[in-house]
Amino acid sequence: MDAYGDLQSGRLGPLGELNLPPGPVVTVCGVGRTAAIATDLLRAKGVEALTLDGGMRSWSLAWNTAQTTISGCEVVQVRRTGKGCLSYIVESQSEAVVIDASVDPDVYVRLLRERGWRLVAVADTHIHADHLSRSRLLSDQEGVDVWLPTQDRAQYPFRPVADGDRIAFGSTALVAMRTPGHTQESTTYLLDRAAAFTGDTLFLNSVGRPDLDGGTHQELASRARLLHMSVRHLLQLPYAAEVFPGHVSEPIPFDRRMLGRTVGTIRDTLALARLEEAAFVQAVLARIPPNPPNHSRIVELNERGEVPGDPSELEAGANRCAVV
Ligand SMILES: [Fe+2]
Repeated sequence: MDAYGDLQSGRLGPLGELNLPPGPVVTVCGVGRTAAIATDLLRAKGVEALTLDGGMRSWSLAWNTAQTTISGCEVVQVRRTGKGCLSYIVESQSEAVVIDASVDPDVYVRLLRERGWRLVAVADTHIHADHLSRSRLLSDQEGVDVWLPTQDRAQYPFRPVADGDRIAFGSTALVAMRTPGHTQESTTYLLDRAAAFTGDTLFLNSVGRPDLDGGTHQELASRARLLHMSVRHLLQLPYAAEVFPGHVSEPIPFDRRMLGRTVGTIRDTLALARLEEAAFVQAVLARIPPNPPNHSRIVELNERGEVPGDPSELEAGANRCAVV
């Protein structure tokens, strides 16, 4: 619905007809001005309303968390509400690893301190194309190593991760499983075969797109075949293993509920994953969405491990690393 015209004329318009849930309402618009009008009008009706300062830029950076226990380890999911990026803090015996850091390093530092955990490693599942990785910043700030899947693109010091490598923390380790396809280096981190941090290889209801590195139709098809093999491998994990992906395609509610799905549920519900290789390749290549905005610039910065002062312009727009 379009509420702008009414709001700018001082009327709630369609907003007045919304069945609002209990609790405070936060209004957001492009820069924050129309949202402030909506807030005033909602308050006049007795609704507890607040305006998000900074409009959509702030929305792109807003975050919330959910937490669960898996195999005796704590897993905190740190979610960029508007953009759908999911990152993780995984803890064993008060030692923690951060996977796919996508919000300001200070957020992870605060969440770690609040829980009394010590950061021992930062890892990325792949070189991201839809948001700027904060992993290098976080690792520099906290004086720990950043682990990246082996590749020759990143231009800063990192610990290379090969298939089967272990990132040890507490009494356990994340075990790397190479899952190429979305990108050549894409890697899944397994926690006790009970949780799989799949990056952009396998999502809750889709698979990663194989085209962001560019190339001919043949090259894309060969990456789609790799993706098919990787998804097959992942779906051979135990039925009850939890899949925790690198993003979701909808805004994330502030509900503290983990976004994850068991391997069994994905096997049963994701028709794409049941296709034989040729049909899978055809389906994936037919369902590639437009490129994420600024993706070549984002990849370039991620290869250099740099984050500009204000990343919100570059990162504007939804995630587009999944086939649709
Ligand atoms: Fe990606």
